[in-house]
Amino acid sequence: MNSFLAYMGGKSLLANKIIPKIPEHKCYVEVFAGAAWLMFKKDETISDVEIINDINSDLVTLYRIVKHHLEEFIRYFKWILVSRDEFQRFRKEDPETLTDIQRAVRFYYLLKLGYAARINSHSFSIATTSKPRLNLLRIEEELSAVHLRLSRVYIENRAYADVFTRFDKPDTFFYVDPPYYGCEDYYGTGIFARTDFVKLRDILAGISGRFILSINDVEYIRELFAGFHIETVKTSYSASGANRKKQVNELLIMNHEPLQ
Ligand SMILES: C[S@@+](CC[C@H](N)C(=O)[O-])C[C@H]1O[C@@H](n2cnc3c(N)ncnc32)[C@H](O)[C@@H]1O
Repeated sequence: MNSFLAYMGGKSLLANKIIPKIPEHKCYVEVFAGAAWLMFKKDETISDVEIINDINSDLVTLYRIVKHHLEEFIRYFKWILVSRDEFQRFRKEDPETLTDIQRAVRFYYLLKLGYAARINSHSFSIATTSKPRLNLLRIEEELSAVHLRLSRVYIENRAYADVFTRFDKPDTFFYVDPPYYGCEDYYGTGIFARTDFVKLRDILAGISGRFILSINDVEYIRELFAGFHIETVKTSYSASGANRKKQVNELLIMNHEPLQ
């Protein structure tokens, strides 16, 4: 199935190239989950346990609400309009002053209707070529399957280093999809810095589980991770705008050699 979110840096197009390279494991962990495209697209039965983690509390609240309080979430949308005014009203709200359900509704609304699936988008997006990404009449239909899928998934809200410490075991598989090199502050300030690539490399060199790291193809990263197995795959940007059709190389870095 597909993720329910379009997300900046989401791996909707790349997931099918990564999934065949996932080694056998018992516990599946997405360390930088975002919209968790890989988790949604893979076969759930290949993992006994599934964990998704992200440092963004608004995003994690949305996952938890869709998992545990879908009815209340949907009921909220009865009184909401798809409009620029509503978008601006949501933008001005401080998430800290909201209940968890309100916070999840706000984040979902802004992500669905903001420009290019960015978190913290300032502009309400109207495309002349497609319908609004949020169809208030179909929310229930769209989210029911997600609600069921999440019923067996643990949802964590931690910084990445803590996730490795907690869940590393020989039969754990980590999918590691950090911000791109050169876009470290794309998901907020102070959560991921250029120096984190070195920290991440050192953590990955010491784990007993298996991992796949996906990242943009730059020389710095190739050199930093030179001790691991590295494959190059082609992908294209899926965000709206001028880059839509642009083909780029992405690196898949692993501590195993995949069969495919
Ligand atoms: C490239 S996106 C992941 C996209 C995801 N694979 C998908 O398919 O949608 C990177 C994610 O890492 C999260 N992140 C950034 N810094 C983090 C940190 N220090 N610890 C955990 N998550 C972090 C961001 O909030 C963002 O959602």
